[in-house]
Amino acid sequence: MKLLTPTRLGKLLLGNRVVMAPMTRSRADIAGIVGEKTVRYYVQRATAGLLITEATNVSADAVGSPMTPGIWNEAQVEGWKKVTRAVHVEGGTIVMQLWHTGRVGHSDVRGGRLPVAPSAIAIQGQKHFTPSGPKDYEVPRALTTEEVRATVDDFESAARKAKAAGFDGVELHGAFGYLPHQFLADSANQRTDAYGGSIENRARFVLEILERLVGVWGEGRVGIRLSPTLAYNGMVDSDPRATFSYLIEQLNALPLAYLHLMRATPDAERFPHWPQDTIATFGRLFRGPLLVNGGYDRDAADAALEAGAAQAVSFGAPFVANPDLVHRFQVGAPLAAGDRGTFYGGGEQGYIDYPSLRPEPTAPKGYWLVLATITDPARFGAYTALAGPTLASYGARVIARGDVAEVVEGSVSRRPYFVEFPSFAAARACFHSPAYQDAIALRAGAAEFDILIVEGTPPPMS
Ligand SMILES: Cc1cc2nc3c(=O)[nH]c(=O)nc-3n(C[C@H](O)[C@H](O)[C@H](O)COP(=O)(O)O)c2cc1C
Repeated sequence: MKLLTPTRLGKLLLGNRVVMAPMTRSRADIAGIVGEKTVRYYVQRATAGLLITEATNVSADAVGSPMTPGIWNEAQVEGWKKVTRAVHVEGGTIVMQLWHTGRVGHSDVRGGRLPVAPSAIAIQGQKHFTPSGPKDYEVPRALTTEEVRATVDDFESAARKAKAAGFDGVELHGAFGYLPHQFLADSANQRTDAYGGSIENRARFVLEILERLVGVWGEGRVGIRLSPTLAYNGMVDSDPRATFSYLIEQLNALPLAYLHLMRATPDAERFPHWPQDTIATFGRLFRGPLLVNGGYDRDAADAALEAGAAQAVSFGAPFVANPDLVHRFQVGAPLAAGDRGTFYGGGEQGYIDYPSLRPEPTAPKGYWLVLATITDPARFGAYTALAGPTLASYGARVIARGDVAEVVEGSVSRRPYFVEFPSFAAARACFHSPAYQDAIALRAGAAEFDILIVEGTPPPMS
């Protein structure tokens, strides 16, 4: 089954093509910090080829709903570090979805401040969940041009913090009617400055953010999620075909990891002039890896991959009640149904208490044999300072270290050693992590490594 074969999305290495879609579970604390149960939640699902976190607020001003996590201060970074470390030790790969809710919020959960938006236009015909019950949407406050620029800065700052928290990349939440989508859709954006009016202007906010994210993360580690044919949260663009065709053409100029595209929903049928087959219409415009989502089951996902319509498929609701979704797909086991009453908010129930059918992992440990010829001790020291903690964060430990085998021409030395990882997958994930790649860049010219990742027992070393 193609669904269970490895692939890569940019620089993200996936052991299989079953991606966990971002899902808000509203279990952070009041300060937007995630705790131990969230660590457990993601670890339970770490066999997914890629985990995309729940949408995470890029600033205090981005918050629209209670108990959703943030990534704008150090305490939040520390909380997320525990998640990324634990997932990496399991050999998983995890990116953070960056979120600004814009007008999809309420002053009740924003300390009395009105939500902000491209224009002062309220969402009609929907209510917002607040601690005191569902309420009508308020008319948001339109951001000034300076504030729009400051919001772009907030995304960059959040991206830096996500990197510090040990993620493998970030995904911009450009879907479902949140702030970036609000800028794109003419039903929400009637600005007259450089961020409104023409399609080029409406796409500017998204593209400026992406440029900053790529600036922080480099090539192949930034994705974007789009839902061109979803009317939720008042996204009734007059011409989504034109808007998103332009945007996707522009995305092709950026070294993105992937485009995460939602397929058409029943909404599209209400708007006959909208494209009805989202993946076919927009997917083919994108020249990078395509990740698709929306109501796929195992067979439909595999068929889409076999047809070459996408490189990987993400699953949302199925991952709630099936932490072992990949295993169930493997063995053809039936899927458990999730309890919708505990989707958003609450404690461990309906969060980390769904049973797994997967037997305890028997994955062989990974061993890393290093033969380093060190030519520049100073640069090698800088490498070690970064690589040491990175290796440790993937559960690696040095189990045997050879003596300096030879000293040639003064500072040149050759030293073999073995490093043990909890699993082969953890070793592989570590070497492809951004932190380790940064360490290698520091090392350039300082040492030559012969690296061999082996399974099994290392030979004894004196
Ligand atoms: C509980 C829940 C929370 C969700 N939260 C988010 C979110 O934070 N960000 C996002 O982009 N999509 C979110 N979604 C949408 C999912 O990522 C996905 O698009 C949707 O569930 C459809 O995929 P599925 O049919 O495989 O469930 C959420 C869905 C669910 C069920």
